[in-house]
Amino acid sequence: MTSRRRFLGTVAAGGISAASPAFSARNANRYDEIEARVTRRDFKNLHKEDLPTPCMVVDLEIFEKNLRTMADHCRASGIHLRGHVKVHKSPDIAKRQLALGSIGVTCATIAECELMSHAGINGVLLTRQPTSKNNINRAVMLAKREPTFATVVDDPLAADWLQEAAAREGVKLRTAVDVYAGLTRHGIEAGEPALELAKKVNASKNLKLIGLMGYSGGASHTHGWNERKKKSQQDLTGLMESVALARKAGLPVEIVTGGSTGTYNIDSESKGLTELQAGSFVFMDTLYRRVGGKQDPAVYTDFGPALTVMTTVISKRHPRQCTIDAGNKALLRPTDEVKGRPEIKVENQGAEYGILAWTDTDREFKLGERVDLYPSNLDMSTNVYDRYYIARGEQIVDVWPIMGRAGAAQR
Ligand SMILES: Cc1ncc(COP(=O)(O)O)c(C=O)c1O
Repeated sequence: MTSRRRFLGTVAAGGISAASPAFSARNANRYDEIEARVTRRDFKNLHKEDLPTPCMVVDLEIFEKNLRTMADHCRASGIHLRGHVKVHKSPDIAKRQLALGSIGVTCATIAECELMSHAGINGVLLTRQPTSKNNINRAVMLAKREPTFATVVDDPLAADWLQEAAAREGVKLRTAVDVYAGLTRHGIEAGEPALELAKKVNASKNLKLIGLMGYSGGASHTHGWNERKKKSQQDLTGLMESVALARKAGLPVEIVTGGSTGTYNIDSESKGLTELQAGSFVFMDTLYRRVGGKQDPAVYTDFGPALTVMTTVISKRHPRQCTIDAGNKALLRPTDEVKGRPEIKVENQGAEYGILAWTDTDREFKLGERVDLYPSNLDMSTNVYDRYYIARGEQIVDVWPIMGRAGAAQR
């Protein structure tokens, strides 16, 4: 279901791209040539300039460095990584993280869990409690096919539903208690309510209590490292109290999971979490770059910007602006940034159009020029593209599908 061969075969059948005249004289105007080569995994002499735009391009060198930086950090500070896949939706990326020592992946939806599990990835944790009949049954079926699969619950009622479904299938479902950590969207109240839920899960015949989760989404993008540290520690206080209560009550607390790209070196310092759920660090985006780091208060440089949306200048009939072929459908945002040209203003101009505007620069864009943009929000942007073109410099060296994005597979 998730194999690359099948994915590439599918896209080839609906070939959509336009080859650059520079690609090769023989193939000039053969719009399906690039698709056919992607299917054959024949990337020889395929360069960024040959690609249809808008498209997503990963700078392999920066990407690999990001993965290594996080893996080294986790190893050195004795914390595990169970990285969030919602930002990339790519089994290729998840497998690279596992190869560097990750203990599994975290997923926002049951479809992402299925995608990762069917791609052969163990240690999948669903960070959103399943409550529909559909999602509960699918969670149980995942546990049946792969016993390391786990989910969270923040409500005793959901624990009852999961217990019933797991009993019907005769499986033991690994379950963590999701504790409120500053985000009012989920998480049971810390302290006694969390402890009671943990006891209930532990006493449920077909659920196996594995620990507690607390995701401090408010801390992740707090500007300034010291402010972020304060916010994260505040938000996680209740989680840590709940963990202490659970341990005192003799409950098994194998994992304490949470954290994000913004707090990776804060949460590992305070030693309360056993694992991090950070996701965005693999690519980074402009909003994360702006939160500032421990070393550099202006720019969060711990991880490099590895992902760009490549676009083309399609018109320039007006002074101090030009039009690019990426608009609303390409998830263009005014907070996006032009690579190498931070002074350029990015504006939406409709479904298929964007505007780059400037006030006082002599450096114009040329018609047909390629413009690389750093996206603002990975979760949203990657969700509208079907693949990452992997580049080493200008050369394309691989293509990784972005999966489980739309339609039935997304739900
Ligand atoms: C529950 C949960 N954990 C972890 C993350 C990953 O955070 P980040 O991508 O900021 O590293 C998210 C992102 O929204 C999340 O919802």
